[in-house]
Amino acid sequence: MHKDLERILLTEQQIGERVTAVAREVDKAMTGKRPVAVGILKGSIIFYADFIRCLTVPLELDFMAVSSYGSGSTSSGKLKIKKDLDGDVKGRDVIVIEDIIDSGFTLACLKKLLCERGAASVTIVTLLDKHERRTEDIAPDYNCFEIPDEFVVGYGLDYDEEYRSLPYIGILKRSVYQK
Ligand code: PRP
Repeated sequence: MHKDLERILLTEQQIGERVTAVAREVDKAMTGKRPVAVGILKGSIIFYADFIRCLTVPLELDFMAVSSYGSGSTSSGKLKIKKDLDGDVKGRDVIVIEDIIDSGFTLACLKKLLCERGAASVTIVTLLDKHERRTEDIAPDYNCFEIPDEFVVGYGLDYDEEYRSLPYIGILKRSVYQK
């Protein structure tokens, strides 16, 4: 285990099994369609790569980078588009792939934006849901794990751009971010 972690919350094996199971459900629901899988950078990259490899429907891949956090550990309440989609989502079935829903602000804004751009459907898939922190009226269509309100890193999630490449998800020691 990484020395900055208090404990491992989700092991590589737990993540792998659950991601595969959820991807199979989404795959079934998308039968006959050709969805666009939209990964929200950067946190979702590892989840995205594992998730899409379990899908059998024909897929188009696209990415967006947005930010709703400042450099600290709480939401700032502002959404900024740092990188927009390459393609047009008009009339398309969109699968939004996120690493975590916290306040729900990011996904609420993204869903509204994709609907305004004429997406035929917007399906939200998240790896983690910190449900107790929700302030927006939004729920994922598919969630892999509901987690407690702890600072989690690994499997794509960072603190100050560190820890993203850990293959598991761990709880960061308070001493690391409360300096
Ligand atoms: C995280 C996460 C979501 C958002 C969730 O991204 O990937 O996009 O915050 O928070 P919310 O529900 O309160 O809006 P972050 O800004 O940390 O960027 P990153 O994915 O590049 O790490």
